[in-house]
Amino acid sequence: MTEAPALGDPTLDADHAKLADLVDRLAAAKGADVLASLDALQAHASEHFALEDQELRQMRDGNASCHLDEHAAVLKSMDEVRGIVAAGPDSTESAHLVARLTAELRRWLPEHVTAMDAGVAHTRTRSRLGGAPVVLTRRSSPPG
Ligand SMILES: [Fe+2]
Ligand SMILES: [Fe+2]
Repeated sequence: MTEAPALGDPTLDADHAKLADLVDRLAAAKGADVLASLDALQAHASEHFALEDQELRQMRDGNASCHLDEHAAVLKSMDEVRGIVAAGPDSTESAHLVARLTAELRRWLPEHVTAMDAGVAHTRTRSRLGGAPVVLTRRSSPPG
């Protein structure tokens, strides 16, 4: 199961949850569904990264170019895997590449959200409300 930690920005959180869901769907896909799932993941990732990229280009943060590079690298990997899957959907190589891509995205997404997208969430909230995002978490046990 792919994890996408909440940042307190409704748009980014919804986008990340959908991204995580699409990675899980691709990981579970069989036969012709593999290419369709990959396309759905790629389309959503492109759209989501474009939204963040637009904000990153306006930020004067030193991390912005690293962040833009990561998005581009992820899209490039998806594109490469898509090319091979489209050419031979039933090949062992396709299955192997899709498994590697989903494993890599499951590792990457929570790390990227925490390390990089948190900065975008912070900037978005600051410009909208004038404060840092508030993330509500349920207490594991009542205060004693
Ligand atoms: Fe993101
Ligand atoms: Fe990002």
